[in-house]
Amino acid sequence: MDYPTIVKPPTEEIAVRPNLTDYNSFRRTFTWDDVRKELSGLPGDGLNIAHECIDRHLGTPRRDKAALLWEGKDGSSESYTFAEMAHWSNKAANALRSLGVEKGDRVFVFLDRVPELYFTVFGALKLGAVAGPLFSAFGPEAVRERLADSGAKVLVTQPDLWARIHFIWQDLPDLKDVVLVCRRQQHETQPHMHLWQALVEHQPDHLKMERTGPEHYSVMHYTSGTTGKPKGAAHVHEAILGHYATAKYVLDLHDEDVYWCTADPGWVTGTSYGMFGPWSNGATSVVYEGAFSASSWYSVIQKYRVTVWYTAPTAVRMLMKAGEETAKKYDLSSLRYICSVGEPLNPEAVMWGLRAFGLPMHDNWWQTETGCILIANYPSVDIRPGSMGRTLPGIEAAIIDENGNEMPTGEEGDLAIRPGWPSMFRTYWNNRPLYESRFKNGWYVTGDRARVDADGYFWFVGRADDVINTAGHLVGPFEVESVLIEHPAVAEAGVIGKPDPVAMEVVKAFVSLKDGYEADAKLRRELIQFARAKLGPAVAPREIDFLPSLPKTRSGKIMRRLLKARELGLPEGDTSTLED
Ligand code: PRX
Repeated sequence: MDYPTIVKPPTEEIAVRPNLTDYNSFRRTFTWDDVRKELSGLPGDGLNIAHECIDRHLGTPRRDKAALLWEGKDGSSESYTFAEMAHWSNKAANALRSLGVEKGDRVFVFLDRVPELYFTVFGALKLGAVAGPLFSAFGPEAVRERLADSGAKVLVTQPDLWARIHFIWQDLPDLKDVVLVCRRQQHETQPHMHLWQALVEHQPDHLKMERTGPEHYSVMHYTSGTTGKPKGAAHVHEAILGHYATAKYVLDLHDEDVYWCTADPGWVTGTSYGMFGPWSNGATSVVYEGAFSASSWYSVIQKYRVTVWYTAPTAVRMLMKAGEETAKKYDLSSLRYICSVGEPLNPEAVMWGLRAFGLPMHDNWWQTETGCILIANYPSVDIRPGSMGRTLPGIEAAIIDENGNEMPTGEEGDLAIRPGWPSMFRTYWNNRPLYESRFKNGWYVTGDRARVDADGYFWFVGRADDVINTAGHLVGPFEVESVLIEHPAVAEAGVIGKPDPVAMEVVKAFVSLKDGYEADAKLRRELIQFARAKLGPAVAPREIDFLPSLPKTRSGKIMRRLLKARELGLPEGDTSTLED
């Protein structure tokens, strides 16, 4: 692609000296043992994520520093210091213990982004229970499946969400107790149902923590595969080494940072980087309960003087849609560093960051299964727009072929990681064979297709099953989508391979338009021409359909699979993670 490298100034000239100043030398000397020494651990080789995030700060000046700055969707706000986080998570732990929760039990939360969600997750971790956050937009079937598969013992939820799913309780023999957080609505109780206020508030704030070791389960997140039901990726307490190190070296968190991760804890980004990464580094983390709008997001940055912002490409594209002028209406001068994850970050979005905020977006890559960021752009390393960046020190990544052998530089293949990093998932809950099937020839195979260039920059091509083969040419949908969204009329683009009797597949695009553009034959021709001119006829879409909006997962990924199923009139499969 013809986007120029964004060259970083010498580290002495960067206003806040990056935690990672020299990538190459750090890569040579990095060890996970050194990371472990920066954490405190517990007696007898114990390790607990909650201790590393909260309690270990209590004997330091961070004790009375804001850990959580909470902005409610109704405009209210609350602030909790590390000491207050310890107080509330201890009470939550005592409350869960009073319900009989023991080490290894699963405790799920189905809540909006309210403070009690965070108290419960840390309370559960302090008991050695496995915390399972669920996205509050899930419907009953999605919640039921996850609670049933995990055998969750306690669910902490809120009245309006409970009203949506209450009838599933009868199908969940393992679910003993339900706790309702009644912030805005009241609720009647019934046997085995408790109100947070009554259950938690009178608990002592002193807690005898359970002893946990690095290999004890900590959190689990359900992730959708291309086939089958969602599977629960289970992580252990040792994962905190990965969260801590990446929040320090990739997100570049410093003590004085006010950091905002826009992801919901129902998705792994919202736990690894909405909680564990920032708090294990002692940074202040902003949580915004409300939904996305350009103006509300910019207001949060302005109000809290956010310095480091971790967000997602779809959000960036929606901000792009709202225009640079909207960004310019707010005082966003506190921002010093922006990162993005979850889906391909189009080069155009990286460049837009420069125009709108004076800062490039730093893309990084990881998965629910990897637990932490493994490939990234860093504050001190030049950015090649469109690349996910280089491997995290301590991580070996490669592009492999179908036999698990490494491929030559520049060639497309399966992105694979050498197992053994601390935050690697340890199993899929109740599905050991599926877990084992993800490893080949000593590699963890990610399911993504990618390339690596001679300088070690990784370039995402697509999910292994999304790559289009047209007339013998492999085409990455991302490449086509990136070009289409460069056209001023296009808001979003999703590209699939449409079966074709001659070429095997042809590239077909679905686009939604920005406000003020007419979806007509003239624009369709113009877009095809535009893409042909940029990509050549072998790669450019042969067909383009207009849609009012594209189907997306709740975490914002365009569901090409669904576009394809709809195009072909096939069953839509599992749509429990669909946005609407
Ligand atoms: O396909 C890759 C895409 O998102 C997948 C992981 O999704 P999930 O398990 O929901 O984890 C979310 C936490 C990041 C990957 O297999 N993906 C993630 N980051 C990127 C990406 N695709 C392209 N570029 C990225 N930076």
